Amino acid sequence: MKDVLRTVFGSVFGGHPDGIWAAPGRVNLIGEHTDYNDGFALPVALAQTTRLAARRRTDGRLRLHSAQAGGPVVDLAVADLVPGAVTTWAAYPAGVVWALGEAGHRIGGADLHFDSTVPTGAGLSSSAALECAVARAYDDLYGLGLGPPDLARLAQRAENAFAGVPCGIMDQMASACCVAGAALHLDVRAGSYEHVPFDPGAAGLRLLVIDTRVTHDLGDGAYAALRTGCEQACALLGLAALRDLSPDHLPRAERMLPARLRPLVRHVVTENARVAEAVAHLEAGRVAELGPILNSAHASLRDDYRISCAETDLAVDSAVAAGALGARITGGGFGGSVIALVAADRADAMGAAITAAFRAAGYQVPHLIPVTAASGARRIE
Ligand code: GLA
Repeated sequence: MKDVLRTVFGSVFGGHPDGIWAAPGRVNLIGEHTDYNDGFALPVALAQTTRLAARRRTDGRLRLHSAQAGGPVVDLAVADLVPGAVTTWAAYPAGVVWALGEAGHRIGGADLHFDSTVPTGAGLSSSAALECAVARAYDDLYGLGLGPPDLARLAQRAENAFAGVPCGIMDQMASACCVAGAALHLDVRAGSYEHVPFDPGAAGLRLLVIDTRVTHDLGDGAYAALRTGCEQACALLGLAALRDLSPDHLPRAERMLPARLRPLVRHVVTENARVAEAVAHLEAGRVAELGPILNSAHASLRDDYRISCAETDLAVDSAVAAGALGARITGGGFGGSVIALVAADRADAMGAAITAAFRAAGYQVPHLIPVTAASGARRIE
């Protein structure tokens, strides 16, 4: 892969890159739609990465090329970058360069060639991988000395303000801050995290991503509507964020809210509690105990938060019917991926059962991706 990157870089831009960087996609174990409620999440970085061959330029031009997008080089002037100016895939990398400048860092241009193994539209954070690879490379190319959480904040700023996608910070934190063999226990309000050991293989288990291939788009309004619903509930309850509502106070809070907001609040409050429960089990080495937590999270996301769809429900139901300890939709929702935790010796049979169920329903055959908790954005050469 590195040789291919170098060769393509040479044929697109001429000469050699200064280095090669990689940033992973992520899958979230538990803690969904909690990040923009100042809450908790527990993602892991995937082995699938966006790789970036990059070279610093001295003329202020930002030149971008992607193996997946193809097409001609996107050639931009760093000084002219403004939100809304770029609307294609190039908005993500250009947005990071803009965000660095906006934050007062002294940066200039670069030649960037990308190649990625992170599936797009699958709820596995291909855009965060793209952003974090650029942030990490710029940090090195321009000697900025930024830490992983700084890179994540800049990447989120790029996505929110430049690409116009109203996401929280979980994906960028996962892509920037994860370490191999561990999940990232995020406390969004505190801006802090800790690494929690996550090694299902050592417990005779496997975690599988089932990419349903129903693509989702966080910019299409449904995600923003959920965020707005949570904000309205906070305003009515007099809270800074739903993170401040404890499970004990949930029944009372529900009585104070209109019917349409109650299920949203119920999901966020119970989901934050599920993160704490999952972390306690993982810290004690009880990986299998995640199973029932995944099942309750799916019920909550399907019935209360209502972000599941026929394909993701089928993946969860057929995984559980085939012996998974637990399964749930993961990521932003409205399609995308499901995760299933299963005994290693049942994993193949489970995968076959899910595929058969999709065929029988006339859906596209899903992609099955085994998860190994990998490390965050890094220089690889
Ligand atoms: C998307 C967003 C994240 C988070 C999840 C839901 O992945 O980018 O910030 O809100 O949805 O947990």
